[in-house]
Amino acid sequence: MATLVRIAELNQWIGQAVELRGWVHGRRSGGKIVFLLVRDGSGVVQCVVEASNPDAFEPATQIGHESSVIVEGSVRADPRAPGGVELAVSTLRVVQAVDNYPIARKAHGVDFLMRHRHLWIRSPRQCAILRIRDTVIRTIHEFFAARGFVRVDTPIIVPGAAEGTTTLFQLDYFGEPAFLTQTGQLYLEAAAMALGRVYCFGPTFRAEKSKTRRHLTEFWMLEPEIAWTDLDGVMDLAEALVSELVARVLQQHRSDLELLGRDVAPLEQVRPPFPRITYSDAVELLRSPATHSRLREELERHCAQLAAHQRRLAELEARWSATPKGWVQDRLAQEIQELREEIAHLGQELETRALHIEAASSFEWGQDLGGDEETILARLFDRPVMVTRYPRAVKAFYMKTDPADPRVVLNVDVLAPEGYGEIIGGSQREDDADRLIERMREQGLDPAVYDWYIDLRRYGTVPHGGFGLGLERFLAWVCGLRHIREAIPFPRLMGRIYP
Ligand code: 4AD
Ligand code: MG
Repeated sequence: MATLVRIAELNQWIGQAVELRGWVHGRRSGGKIVFLLVRDGSGVVQCVVEASNPDAFEPATQIGHESSVIVEGSVRADPRAPGGVELAVSTLRVVQAVDNYPIARKAHGVDFLMRHRHLWIRSPRQCAILRIRDTVIRTIHEFFAARGFVRVDTPIIVPGAAEGTTTLFQLDYFGEPAFLTQTGQLYLEAAAMALGRVYCFGPTFRAEKSKTRRHLTEFWMLEPEIAWTDLDGVMDLAEALVSELVARVLQQHRSDLELLGRDVAPLEQVRPPFPRITYSDAVELLRSPATHSRLREELERHCAQLAAHQRRLAELEARWSATPKGWVQDRLAQEIQELREEIAHLGQELETRALHIEAASSFEWGQDLGGDEETILARLFDRPVMVTRYPRAVKAFYMKTDPADPRVVLNVDVLAPEGYGEIIGGSQREDDADRLIERMREQGLDPAVYDWYIDLRRYGTVPHGGFGLGLERFLAWVCGLRHIREAIPFPRLMGRIYP
């Protein structure tokens, strides 16, 4: 009896007989030999089936993508193979033969892939992202445990808004209106007054009516909250967390990042200290001619890249027409499709970047920084930049007014480089009951609804603060994804809830 082994561990079984259970990921025939690529979730291995073994060879010549199989054979070292091993097959049991797997080597558009998300997640790229996501989540828990934080689970069904009323999903709670939570923060502040240092990590919901590459309607947010701290303390923690998460991904996921085509050089820059600028500095940067000429230079590099891609596309298309039908041609078609998407993307980027330059020059103090402005600012730095002290009017009621300048609040947004924009939003909290009530009224909120929250300022109030890190925003940046939808197993977007 061969031992059941996972592919990731095969290199410890060289020279021995093993059993693998997995799915057929690819097949190549070479006359008297068939090479099956089998994947089992832990890795992919080439299985060699020879014609001298007809019981295995016959089914192997026919078998389609994603057929489920149990394979036995002996493990051989092969320096050319991924993982350094291959399997010489003795028996092949087809658990289910599949001959019409919807996601073939053919090129597919995003819409098709999204409707087949339940199958799309089997692809190596999607698996790489999900593995990195797992590591990031694990590292988050380790990071906070090591610093004496207590994890507190905050409710998902809530009676009111915390981040503005426009993005609430409403529920019918036994005849009363209730909502899906936008943040755990308010409850976490209560917990911080009990336990000192706490964090929550769970799904949050925003009825964002914007179809951007940064917005999900359901996303996972990590939120720490600390008693006895100020804005600087909040920023120090955010900087330490982001640095550690990036370092861990670099350390444990080199091959996944490579598979994703992620250039790791910018990630290697992510070390403290992160630049810290105020919103007012940011406005000056946006309006400055030096910034505009930098952006224009970038635009030119971009144009050159687009032209190079177009030349390569023409070349590939010529090769495709000269290639007979078969898997080589399919591969080419796939490459052509990807390049076309890249070209469309670059073209769009070119347009938006040109518009950015215009928008930036006319930016006025007092406006909120939108995605475009964030993108520009983030491009000016080689690591995440922390922007503090936004105008009071554009920020949430719970943020503490800056005693040194009442026009602004003691908040921070962390903007990721390479155009990814805001990954963290946080602040020192308003710890004075009267000023908090005033802020609620200013924003048209009814203080009676938040009476329990105001209690926290009536019974032993202390300076405190925290932040929220959007897990999928963070992953989109670290993995170099063009769209946030690939950073979560089953994305929920405006107009998309299937599967
Ligand atoms: O800046 P936000 O709205 O902050 C809060 O919710 C605070 N209550 C957090 C706190 O201080 N405890 O959201 C925090 C982060 C953003 O920086 C972004 O990364 C992510 O959550 N985020 C989204 N991610 C995906 N889709 C959306 N629609 C998001 N909205 C916010
Ligand atoms: Mg924010």
